[in-house]
Amino acid sequence: MAVCVKGNGSMALFLRGRDIVFAAAVVSILAAMAMPAQAGNPPIRDDLSEEDAARVAVVTAPASDFSAAETFERMAGGAGTSLAAADRDAFSRPSANLSRERRAEFALGNALFKKLWVSAPSSTQASDGLGPLYNARSCLRCHVNDGRGRPPEGPDDRSVSMLLRLSVPPRTVEERVLLDSKALLRLPEPTYGGQLQELGLPGLPAEGRMSISYETVTVEMNDGDIVELRRPIYSVAGLSHGPMHDDVMLSARVAPPMIGLGLLEAIHPADIFAKADPDDRDGDGISGRVSVVRDKTSGALLPGRFGWKASIAGIAQQTAEAFAFDIGISTPMFPDPFGDCTLAQTECRSHQTGVQKRLGDTEAPDPILDLVALYARNLAVPARRGFSDPGVLRGKALFYQAGCPACHTPKFVTGRNAHQPEHRFQLIWPYTDMLLHDMGEGLSDHRPVGDATGSEWRTAPLWGIGLTQTVNGHAYFLHDGRARSLIEAILWHGGEARQARDNVAAMSRAERRDLIRFLESL
Ligand code: HEC
Ligand code: HEC
Repeated sequence: MAVCVKGNGSMALFLRGRDIVFAAAVVSILAAMAMPAQAGNPPIRDDLSEEDAARVAVVTAPASDFSAAETFERMAGGAGTSLAAADRDAFSRPSANLSRERRAEFALGNALFKKLWVSAPSSTQASDGLGPLYNARSCLRCHVNDGRGRPPEGPDDRSVSMLLRLSVPPRTVEERVLLDSKALLRLPEPTYGGQLQELGLPGLPAEGRMSISYETVTVEMNDGDIVELRRPIYSVAGLSHGPMHDDVMLSARVAPPMIGLGLLEAIHPADIFAKADPDDRDGDGISGRVSVVRDKTSGALLPGRFGWKASIAGIAQQTAEAFAFDIGISTPMFPDPFGDCTLAQTECRSHQTGVQKRLGDTEAPDPILDLVALYARNLAVPARRGFSDPGVLRGKALFYQAGCPACHTPKFVTGRNAHQPEHRFQLIWPYTDMLLHDMGEGLSDHRPVGDATGSEWRTAPLWGIGLTQTVNGHAYFLHDGRARSLIEAILWHGGEARQARDNVAAMSRAERRDLIRFLESL
């Protein structure tokens, strides 16, 4: 990306109110020490005795015998795996190993996750503060049944389980420093902020509407089968404050499924760094980079784990950002009650807020954020189905042969020092390495975020993916839901994953069916 050092665009115009004080402070501190992205020695697994480390190496070794299922393979989420029916509620169950007290907190978090926030002032009071601009009134509206969102089916489909992120390239030295120091991972669009809010409180027009058109791309498999892919083209219509910045970059994202997130948070950082191979030293064509981000609470540089570009390190921050920017609710971590409204949006910033001093300084005071984050950490991964069927096992062998595990790492043993006892030392099967990979031009959104370039995405976890149709009634995959089936999702793989994709295109029809059977059993 070009570094723009001309001009003296005022940062105050460029940033949202909540960022300005923070940004001004870090510019001065960090200007001198522009920190390299992946500095220092990679962490080591300091939580294990030698004996433990040896056990971990054995149980996480890649599968080599495909004649039968591996021990514990069924228990994709370790001891917390849900053995309940694989039905519509398959993603909504608490981890099986939660204590009674934590189960009670989970229920409270669940109620808040579903809660429909209303505008201030309201008679209910405890749930006001929505907006002023927002994408949805509840978490569940996007994370439907705790599963994944989808793109609208047509111009009249008002489902909102997808959003459009906005940013602009840096224009000044100060802005460049903000990005290099990771005080910010991207610069919000000057007028509309970090994402397009498609809804506003009464009297406040929505920012605009995302519009999507699709182009058909035809792909032929080696055996002559034809698959049609649809390539999305995004634009914005009905803008409330005039055109966006000329250089605006758009990135459409569907809401990812909510299962197993606490376990992903419990993967030891050393295991993430160990898989990274940024310069492809082993020459397998697959590099993989850690997305290093600055944690909001501690200020530390940590591996990013959440979001389609691994741009957030922890679940609490992800939850607070969702409250602030998706729903417009302030929390102690993001105390600005105006959410994503920029300084240019004066009518938004003069709206009444939902802060009630007797309850606290924010619209959702403690312990609301903690309860919702606890909920998000403890949704169970469903048990595998059909994991020892011969077709599934053949498909598993093909998954290995095609090179999918190079990124979709089948297993980890979580850290002994994880935040929550239930997440400690669990053998889990998430099928992700938590790293960024260059997926090629076809999947690029041309919008960098922190370390991630436009074409880099975090390897998507595959656990639970076979239940998408059951839980969500659709089978749209990838970061923007462009794929309408698992095979389409695979055929979009390019860049570092090009060889794996070609291996699938070269399979016979029967082999492809087995590969899909395996994915459906996850
Ligand atoms: C407008 C739709 C929308 C709403 C409302 C919403 N989310 Fe999300 N959520 C998303 C999208 C889109 C992503 C992926 C973001 C990205 O890639 O940066 C996401 C990501 C997440 C993740 C990370 C998951 C992962 O696998 O990386 C968590 C956790 C999460 N949301 C929790 C919440 C909570 C809690 C709420 C309510 C406070 C909420 N979300 C409200 C759309 C939404
Ligand atoms: C170079 C790393 C890499 C390899 C190799 C790879 N993938 Fe992926 N995979 C990814 C990334 C990154 C994503 C997310 C891409 C996106 O959303 O744009 C992904 C997404 C997916 C998805 C969609 C997940 C979702 O939640 O929407 C499926 C299914 C999938 N991969 C299957 C496979 C299979 C099967 C193979 C082997 C043939 C494979 N992948 C090989 C990196 C890889």
